[in-house]
Amino acid sequence: MVTLTTEEQAMLGGDDGAAVQKAMELLVRYAEALGAERFVETNNVAGVPGSSNAFVKDYYKADGGDYRAVFSRFDLDSDEVVDVPRMNAYSCHLQGGMDPELWAEQGMTAAAHANFASDERETAAHGIQILKTCTPYIAGNVPVMGEHCAWMESSAVVFCNSVIGARTNCEGRESTSAAMLAKRIPDWGFHRPEFRHGQHRVQVDVPVEDVFDWGMLGYFIGGAVEDTIPVIEGSIGKASLIRHKHFGAAAASSGGVEMYHMVGITPEAPSAEVAFGSNVPQNSFVYDAAARRRTYETLNSVGSSTDVDYVMLGCPHYSIEQIAQAAHLIEGRKVSTNSALWVFTSRAVKATADANGYTQILRDAGAYLMTDTCSSISAAVPPGTRVAALDSAKQVHYLPAIMGIEGWFGTTAECIDAACTGKWKGRLQ
Ligand code: F3S
Repeated sequence: MVTLTTEEQAMLGGDDGAAVQKAMELLVRYAEALGAERFVETNNVAGVPGSSNAFVKDYYKADGGDYRAVFSRFDLDSDEVVDVPRMNAYSCHLQGGMDPELWAEQGMTAAAHANFASDERETAAHGIQILKTCTPYIAGNVPVMGEHCAWMESSAVVFCNSVIGARTNCEGRESTSAAMLAKRIPDWGFHRPEFRHGQHRVQVDVPVEDVFDWGMLGYFIGGAVEDTIPVIEGSIGKASLIRHKHFGAAAASSGGVEMYHMVGITPEAPSAEVAFGSNVPQNSFVYDAAARRRTYETLNSVGSSTDVDYVMLGCPHYSIEQIAQAAHLIEGRKVSTNSALWVFTSRAVKATADANGYTQILRDAGAYLMTDTCSSISAAVPPGTRVAALDSAKQVHYLPAIMGIEGWFGTTAECIDAACTGKWKGRLQ
């Protein structure tokens, strides 16, 4: 049974308006389903509030079929439509369904774009920051260690918990939308210190030095530990934001990893003893040269034809460092007439890429730098795509399955070479 503070009781009683009341009703049901005994306050919420396509709006046609109807009936699971005020928590919108400018190139219709633009105006009017990215932590939302957050998006959640040391479960649309109004989330799971301790040991016995290898290691570990917390030790070199970004996204895809410890690297793992806390390690896994090769083969098991139609970079959304690298690799070359190259990032990072000339370098080569979405989220690939090449273990896990295409996994340089030649020549070094 969840215990409410006086302020929470007042919200539940309707003192702060009908929308906050509906949000608290939903959060109380959620807390009770989890077995949480109380709430924590949060002032950092990342979700997809109110956004919907025409199908969802049509589903709520009898309620008005607009943002207000969708937010009330879908997001808040309310049995009536209520007025939705500005959000009370610091809130941001994660990735969306299309690029705000290159939507036609992505195959979207003018009607779908008009719906997207309408939702975005509502998002802004409700005080929600339009970050439109799966990497809010490099686009303007960086929580601090120990901060209670309520985030969706598995790759962002695992980064938030593991690299920053902030605290969030992998929330859903409904709980994040409610938390934006009520500034509360159940005190359960990763909000509680005892839940953040390691459960399995992973020994890394092969050098893991670049983003390609960090991604493969993450994919291996996710497959091994599934949705539990690994404590990783061994020959992991040169941690960086983009390496953690690809590691965590991969681990959250092959398994359901929401938090990991790297001894001597991540903030809650100054030692293995601290990382495990009172937990006794359950299993030990070894990542060696043979495991690395097996992981590479698994990631390339959906590739057959070496004729590459499409190269997608930017899963999770590229940082400016990665865009600079991609621009450097392609400058002076051209995307093959048999292929296409789309690079995805956030609007904030693209603004820097524009200023630095990287967007133009990519465009001059025949590539597009796109924002807000990615091919998996929007189910958008260039027309006729049959074979894609990807530098993200997460994306190669999802995109071929979603689109029914073949996929290759390799380094960024191999992918850009494939875009320029139309041929896949990747191999494990
Ligand atoms: Fe982001 Fe799409 Fe990958 S939203 S994490 S680029 S699947």
